[in-house]
Amino acid sequence: EYKPIFQVELPIPPDLPPSTSYTNTTTGKSIDFYEINIHAFESQTYPGLNTTTYVGYNGIAPGPTLRMTKGREAVVRFVNNYDRNSSIHLHGSYSRTPFDGWAEDVTEPGEYKDYYYPNAQPVRTLWYHDHALGITAVNAYFGQAGFYILEDQAVSDRLGLPTGKYDIPLMLAGKQFLASGKLKSPEDERVSLYGDVITVNAQPWPYLKVEPRKYKFRLLDASISRTFSLYLVEDSKPKVPLTFTVVGADAGYTDHPVPTTNLVIAMAERYEIVIDFDQYKGKNLTLMNSRDFQTNPDYPATDRVLRFVVGNDVTSTVNNGAIPSHLSDLNMPDPRSQVDQAFTFERKNGQWLINGIGFEDIANRVVAFPPQGKVQRWRLTNKSGGWSHPIHIHLIDFQVVSRVGSGRQGVTPYEAASLKDVVYLGTNEEVEVMANFAPWSGVYMFHCHNLVHEDHDMMAAFNVSKVDL
Ligand code: C2O
Ligand code: CU
Repeated sequence: EYKPIFQVELPIPPDLPPSTSYTNTTTGKSIDFYEINIHAFESQTYPGLNTTTYVGYNGIAPGPTLRMTKGREAVVRFVNNYDRNSSIHLHGSYSRTPFDGWAEDVTEPGEYKDYYYPNAQPVRTLWYHDHALGITAVNAYFGQAGFYILEDQAVSDRLGLPTGKYDIPLMLAGKQFLASGKLKSPEDERVSLYGDVITVNAQPWPYLKVEPRKYKFRLLDASISRTFSLYLVEDSKPKVPLTFTVVGADAGYTDHPVPTTNLVIAMAERYEIVIDFDQYKGKNLTLMNSRDFQTNPDYPATDRVLRFVVGNDVTSTVNNGAIPSHLSDLNMPDPRSQVDQAFTFERKNGQWLINGIGFEDIANRVVAFPPQGKVQRWRLTNKSGGWSHPIHIHLIDFQVVSRVGSGRQGVTPYEAASLKDVVYLGTNEEVEVMANFAPWSGVYMFHCHNLVHEDHDMMAAFNVSKVDL
């Protein structure tokens, strides 16, 4: 089968400007209003095939980037102009419950909903995506996913990391195309959809022209089921992995820069990395994906992701200096050795379940009542043999405390330097995470972010309780 690799330039989703803004003259506080329409559209993305049908945000996939300034609140109106339900989750935001994309809080065809986002957290790379009950996989896969970047000028100035055209979001996803050029639907999947095609910003195997200087890339794995184990090589020396630097994760900048030659990124995880192309004038580098990582099936070209074509000239040396040795003061939870909740993730009778419970088990699906403002330690155990589960807990930023039980290393150095909202739970692994359950009370979801598992039915809820237990 012919795979057109590295023929098309990487598309970068444009920023969406606010439709209107309002400043309260008494408080000086500003709020920005945005509008996004969900509808079907055609786009020619797979080289040599006919157009692909997407159903996404404002006619592009990924959706437009929502670039936010810390301290300016936002309201985003999502108008559903398609024939399936939608619900919007801003992944990485401590949204209040009515704006968190609860799976049953759907916006039906022809309706709209306004979502309020406080934009008061530490700067980070978030993403907005569909979360509608039972159809999250199909909605996200066909295009309902976009970047949401929270920035703060003071932080950018202090760190001096690459910004503007040297700060590029990369949404990775495994997809499967039909000979017609359409995407194969995950609708009937009950296990996984890994895909034999690697897309970046919805483009199969793109290339990117870069200048010989530092860049920051905001990586997001938006796959239904594929986890990436990334490494970087110079094309002429494919066996020598190059060092790049992790500077951020789900909840924003890491404590310190973490140099690495390998980065595991599972569904919904974000990592920000700096690559310095200075030494590679006129050369090609390729971002690669290790074969045979955990349960991921491989196809002829699933080991390749993105080619960097390095030019000879630097047009700006702004923010091209050394990476500071300390990046951010992480708000780590107070240490706690007691395990407050233990959850096992397993497959039973064709269902994916958490402690034997699925989200459709309405009477039992609220499985934890963490007291508001208190630290809890959760143990997450993968008992499903040959499957891995990236576990996402809404509302909180957590610390990954331990990982045992598989051949993989424990907590990776880049996890240890981060706060996260998704943790990769590999085959037969047991991971413990710790977080302060704050700032809000209310009922929030947690689930596997393999979207097929999430839809069938590996999702439950916790109620952050005002009662001081
Ligand atoms: Cu990224 Cu509950 O989802
Ligand atoms: Cu799973």
